[in-house]
Amino acid sequence: MKAVFFVFSGTGNTKRVCARLAEELEARGHETETFAIRADNEYPDPRAYDVVLIGYPVHAFNAPAAVLKFLKKFPKADKKNPRPVYLVRTSGEPLRMNDASAITPRRILKHRGYTVRGEYRYVMPYNIIFRHSDKMAARMWRAAELRLPAAADEIAAGGGKREGVNIFKRMFTFVLRIEHTAMPVIGHHFKATKKCIGCGACAKICPQGNIEMVDGRPKFKRSCVGCMGCAFSCPEDALKISLLNGWRVNGKYTFEGEAAEDGEVQRYCRKSYIRYFHNAEDGEKK
Ligand SMILES: Cc1cc2nc3c(=O)[nH]c(=O)nc-3n(C[C@H](O)[C@H](O)[C@H](O)COP(=O)(O)O)c2cc1C
Ligand code: SF4
Ligand code: SF4
Repeated sequence: MKAVFFVFSGTGNTKRVCARLAEELEARGHETETFAIRADNEYPDPRAYDVVLIGYPVHAFNAPAAVLKFLKKFPKADKKNPRPVYLVRTSGEPLRMNDASAITPRRILKHRGYTVRGEYRYVMPYNIIFRHSDKMAARMWRAAELRLPAAADEIAAGGGKREGVNIFKRMFTFVLRIEHTAMPVIGHHFKATKKCIGCGACAKICPQGNIEMVDGRPKFKRSCVGCMGCAFSCPEDALKISLLNGWRVNGKYTFEGEAAEDGEVQRYCRKSYIRYFHNAEDGEKK
């Protein structure tokens, strides 16, 4: 089997999960190729592969705007014999509402002649709102590592399952898609503070090409999709992210250290995180 991954990842979580899934598929004798979803990238024809995997983080219970735009450009395939696609998502919290982030990609893909055969979602640390502890990040990664081999088995066998959708999920995600309209405006007002050393790392990481270095300072255009790559990766924590500044998270997580015990899980959604960890650790794999 030849599989292609198209991955959107602002701060590396989804990239990390997809890279491990690719390793798992390769360990089973399958070929994989990975392409980042970026405004400056070119892509192969997905119809040249047996399986297509789309990786993305959940943004406001939806897929990021850049992913929807990317999918809308998929070359048309035969609707009578739709080609299989798997969605591989990461989210900062375990809430099931995050599963609704598959609704719009499913619809777009169906229209283009593809069918979503399986959907996976892995809880990874927040890159906005608040910073999880490194111990939490390590426990999340451990849970993902435990679940990914079963996903690889399922994909290799041509299996998969889709999450249920109800009217409530549809309405909720529809309303929160306001994020897609708001982010280009909010992102245009991001600013570098005096701490900026003009290294250009933010401009390099931006998947949208939304940042231009002018006289050694970043200038923000109007195509931000709120991935948080710039603010998260700035070595000086020198970016102010406009209305979202109180939710800014800066600096890489360490995934390989000691994992949080149940008693160290933060109060926010505590029960859901613990349930998610236990499910993974007790063998509910996918
Ligand atoms: C604009 C934005 C909106 C987000 N919305 C959600 C959300 O609705 N639910 C959730 O669980 N996590 C949400 N997150 C957290 C990310 O999904 C999570 O941290 C993800 O693993 C980031 O992946 P990445 O590093 O590949 O970009 C959001 C993050 C951003 C930047
Ligand atoms: S990454 Fe930070 S320090 Fe570097 S140019 Fe951007 S804002 Fe300035
Ligand atoms: S400006 Fe920052 S948050 Fe917006 S798309 Fe670029 S890297 Fe992501």
